Order: sequence, then structure tokens, then C-alpha cells
Amino acid sequence: MSAAEEKILEVEIERLLPGGVGLAHAEGLTIFVSLAAPGDVLRVRFDRLQGKVGFASIVEVVKPSAVRVEPPCPYFGRCGGCDFQQLTYEAQLNAKVEIIRDCLHRIARIYTPLEIVMHPSPHEWRYRARANWQFDANEKLLGYFERGSNRVCDVEYCAVLVPELQETLEQVRNEIHTLTTMPPLKDFDVVAGDEGVSLFPAFAGLQPIDVSRIVGQEKYHFSAQAFFQINHQLLEPLIAAATGDAKGQTAVDLYCGVGLFTLPLARRFERVTGVEAHERATDFARRNLESVERGSSPTPGSPAAQRRWGGNMREGAESKLATAVPGNVQIITASAGDWLKEHSRSFGPLDFLLLDPPRTGCENAVIAGMLALRPARISYVSCDPATLARDLKKLVAAGYSLDSVSAYDMFPQTHHVETVVRLSSK
Ligand SMILES: C[S@@+](CC[C@H](N)C(=O)[O-])C[C@H]1O[C@@H](n2cnc3c(N)ncnc32)[C@H](O)[C@@H]1O
Repeated sequence: MSAAEEKILEVEIERLLPGGVGLAHAEGLTIFVSLAAPGDVLRVRFDRLQGKVGFASIVEVVKPSAVRVEPPCPYFGRCGGCDFQQLTYEAQLNAKVEIIRDCLHRIARIYTPLEIVMHPSPHEWRYRARANWQFDANEKLLGYFERGSNRVCDVEYCAVLVPELQETLEQVRNEIHTLTTMPPLKDFDVVAGDEGVSLFPAFAGLQPIDVSRIVGQEKYHFSAQAFFQINHQLLEPLIAAATGDAKGQTAVDLYCGVGLFTLPLARRFERVTGVEAHERATDFARRNLESVERGSSPTPGSPAAQRRWGGNMREGAESKLATAVPGNVQIITASAGDWLKEHSRSFGPLDFLLLDPPRTGCENAVIAGMLALRPARISYVSCDPATLARDLKKLVAAGYSLDSVSAYDMFPQTHHVETVVRLSSK
């Protein structure tokens, strides 16, 4: 380490940036400080210096910010899971709104003075119904990666897990400590649903069983082997924001997973296409759509109702039907880019496109395909404000304008945030 890097500096944190780090300036350097609070005065040490940019850790809190609190978790700072526990919950929410605004300004060059409405999580702790636990078979460690490393931080108790998953963590740990020969595993995917806990790979008497959850009027089946959102308490408002009052002839749901948004769209549109790359997820999506067919009826007399029941069945006779997927819905197992390349030019008029990509956002082929489809309205659901802003810049340049931006605190105690942006064609 160079002498410059070993130096300890006193800095004041100006604000929190995308990625959750605190911003400070000192001695001509721009300094990013982990686990800081806005307004903190800190003594920091550099972990890395790159030209005029330094990445630093806290050595001492000289004067704590008014929004700094004592992180309650004993693993805070070492575990790579939570990086906002040092902030009051209100400060976490404010920082996330600022992070979204910062990305819209700096990356997308969108300055429209849109209000960003933040929806807090009903539970600040014990909200997390899905997790990926890292396993070090040699050392018998189970938990999450340590901050900035791929060493496993051994965790006995995780304060953000729902109680069923905390119990499962203990069950898996007990099994690990009774075994003499460790299985050659690297990690476990785990998810809680109404039927219990699904764990993949099977271990400690637990299996990757199918589970389900009811959200609003929909029932979703899923397992540890297919994506389902982490914070189930916020799903109803998230779906309402993403689908809004959209209805009409045609809708496309890109990156549809097990059909979180496809099911409500199937009740409102005459023709819906869901596209998802992961085969297990599309199997669940098709199964979940069966309940739309068999279960509660769509608005009587709506185009979707007439289309689905051929327009010649009495309403209320739907329980006799058991079609695999409602007649108006198609679930495609394909990458979004490949499907768009093949179909975007021949698809015909599209009223509504919803997309919910992974953190990396959309590949160029997806943006090009969306622009070829030219939907009248777009709803972009994103768990990364930076890639969201990068993609919005291209959509705005192609003639779309932002109608609303809303945020959902799906991941309290971390800098992560879910954003829904609704756009329409000018
Ligand atoms: C953030 S999740 C959203 C899933 C779903 N909309 C939901 O809310 O439950 C992203 C989904 O995109 C899928 N995926 C990842 N890359 C993809 C690609 N290139 N094309 C299509 N789907 C992809 C993942 O398997 C995952 O189900």
C-alpha cells in the first residue's frame, strides 16, 4: 500500500450515492466511504486510490450524523448483506429517493420535476422471504459473502429474514454441525411460501418443494428454483403501480418470471405474451395462469372475458374450465432479446409493454426490439436505478416521455430499491 493510501483523513459526508456509499471531498480527492450517513464527520482510511478517486472505510466516527443509529446486527460491517443499518429508516427512504433522482439526472439526463413517491416496507426487519446462503464446506460456515470478498461470513441469526427462514437457517446449520462428511455444495437457495419452506439443493430434511403465495386476487406457485420477489408485503402495491389502469387489446410482459404481472394483465387484455428465459419459471407461469382461467372471473363483459370463454358461455360457468393457459395468454421460454429479434417487427400494434429485467437491465437487442414493437405505453420495473436510467435515456431519445416514477422499499437495511417508471409514446 502506498503512503497516500495509508493516510487517514477527516471528511464530512455530503450525501449518499447510487451503490449506497457516502460522498466526501478532501485534499482534491473525491472520496467514497462505505457504511456512512449523510452529515457524518469521519476519520477514514483508503482501501484503494485510483487517480483522484478514493474508496475508503471508516476508522472513527468523529461527529455522528443526526440520522445515524447504532446498527443492531452483530455482523454489520463484515457481512456483505446490509449496508444501510447505520441509518434511521426515514433516512434510508430519503437516500433511496435521492439515489433514483441522481441516476435520472446524471445518467439519463432527465430533469423533469417528477415527484418520486416512496412506499415504505410494512416491515423494516424480518421481511426477506427469499435468500441465497453461501456455504464453506471446509470451514463449516453458512451465511452471506463478507463485504467486498467471497469469504463466507458465518451467520447464526439474520435480522432481515422472515421467521420461517431464520428457523430454516438454524436447521441447516445444525445439520452441518452434526455431519462428519460435508456435501460438496457452495450455496443454498431458499424461499418461504404458504406451504412451508422450499430449499435447493435438498438438505437437512428440506426439499425444493413447490410453495405458493396469494397476492390480491392471484395465487402464485413458485419454488427455490424459480425467481419470486423477496418482500411479499409490498407486492400488491407494486403490481398496482406497474399495471396501473392499463387495459386494451395487446400486452407483453418481458422477463415475466412466474407471472407476477402476467396474471393481472391476463384479466385486462385480449392478448398477453409473457417472455422469460428460465424454464422452471415459465412452467410455474403457465400453472399460475390456470387459476386465472379457473378462479375468479375477469370483469364481466370485458373483451378478455368474452375472448376467454369464447363469448358464448354464461359467466359463472368458468369453474368447469381447466385449460392449461388462458386462451388469451402465451408464455414463451426464450431470452427477451431473441424473442424480440424474431417477433418485434411482425407483432402488430401493442398497447402495453411491461418489463422487469434483472439488475443488469436490458441488452441493446432488447431496447432495439422494444422500439420496433413501439408500444403505446411502457411500464419499466427495475431493481437497479443506474441501469434503469441508462435504458430510460434510450427510450426518451426514441420519443417516450415519463408519466410517473414510484419507488418501493423492497429491501430495507440495504441501499437497494425497486422503481416503477411509467412511460408513454409522444
Ligand atoms: C427481476 S426478475 C422479474 C420476474 C418477474 N417479473 C417477477 O416480478 O416475479 C427477472 C427475471 O428475468 C429472467 N431473465 C433473466 N435474463 C433474461 C433474459 N435475457 N431474457 C428473459 N428473461 C430473463 C430471470 O429468470 C427472472 O425471472
